[in-house]
Amino acid sequence: MNYRHAFHAGNFADLVKHAGLLRFLADLTAKGPPLTVIDTHAGRGLYDLAGGEAKKSGEAEAGVVRLMDAKDAPAEFAPLVRAVRGLNADGGVRRYPGSPWLIADTLRPADRYIACELRADEHDALRAALRGRQNIRTLNQDGYAAAVAECPRAGRVLVLIDPPFEKADDYPRIVETLAALRRKNADAQALVWLPIKDLETLDSFLRDLEDEVDAPMVVAETRMRPLSDPMKMNGCALVVMGGSDLAAPLAAICGWTAQVLGAGGSARVYRLSPQ
Ligand SMILES: C[S@@+](CC[C@H](N)C(=O)[O-])C[C@H]1O[C@@H](n2cnc3c(N)ncnc32)[C@H](O)[C@@H]1O
Repeated sequence: MNYRHAFHAGNFADLVKHAGLLRFLADLTAKGPPLTVIDTHAGRGLYDLAGGEAKKSGEAEAGVVRLMDAKDAPAEFAPLVRAVRGLNADGGVRRYPGSPWLIADTLRPADRYIACELRADEHDALRAALRGRQNIRTLNQDGYAAAVAECPRAGRVLVLIDPPFEKADDYPRIVETLAALRRKNADAQALVWLPIKDLETLDSFLRDLEDEVDAPMVVAETRMRPLSDPMKMNGCALVVMGGSDLAAPLAAICGWTAQVLGAGGSARVYRLSPQ
C-alpha cells in the first residue's frame, strides 16, 4: 500500500467529495432517529497543507486554496468553507479536514461513527485526530469487510466508500459491499467516490452496479478536462445509493468545480436503473 492521501488532500476531487458528503449529512441529521456513519477508507482525519507531500503535488493550491478565494462558489460549498475556516483561525489554508473530521463535527450526540483505516501509521494519526470525541470508534481493519459486519440490521446508516484505487479489485469490492449492505439493511445509504480516467472503466463499473445492487442510485460526474489521457485523473464521480435526492446540489457542486477549477470541464448528473 503506497497510497498517501496527504499528496491529494484539498484537491478538486476532495472538494467535490467533501461538499457532497456534508450535504448528505445535513439532510440525514436535520431530523430523524439516530444515524450510524461508517467510513470504509478514513485516512488520517486532518491534513497539513504546508507539509512536504501537499507542497510537492501542488494539488491543494489548485483546489481548496482557489475555493477559499472564490467569490462565485455555489451555496453548497458553504459548509466546507466554514469547516476549513474553522481549522485555520489565523487565516490562510494550512490545515484541511478529511472525511473523519467533517463527519465527527456534523453528527448529533445520539449518532455514531465508525472509521476504518488499514495502514497502521495512518490509523494512529486518525485516532489522535479524533481523540476525546464521543460515540466514535476507529478500526485498523479492512473497511469493506468492517462496513458489512458493523452495518446495523435496521435503522439509518450512511456508508462512505473512498478507496485509493491502487488495486483493480476496488471496483468489484465496492459492488459486492453495496449489495451486501442492502441485503443486511434495506435502508442502507451510501456515498461512493471514484476517479475518472477513461470512460470504459467507469461505465463497466456502473453496469455492474445496475446488475447487482437493488437500490436507487444517482451518479454525479465532474469532468475536469477531455478524457484524452487515460493515465491521468481527468475527473471524478460520486455515486449516491439510497433515498436522499442529492441530484440538484451535486449538479451545483460538480458544475462549479468543472467550470472554474477544470480546463474546459463539464458535469453530468443522472440516475441508474437497477435491473
Ligand atoms: C482516499 S484515502 C481516504 C480519504 C478520506 N476518506 C477523506 O476523505 O479524508 C484512502 C485511504 O484508505 C486506506 N486504505 C487502503 N485500503 C484500505 C482498506 N482495504 N480498508 C481500509 N482502509 C484502506 C489508505 O491507507 C488511505 O488512507
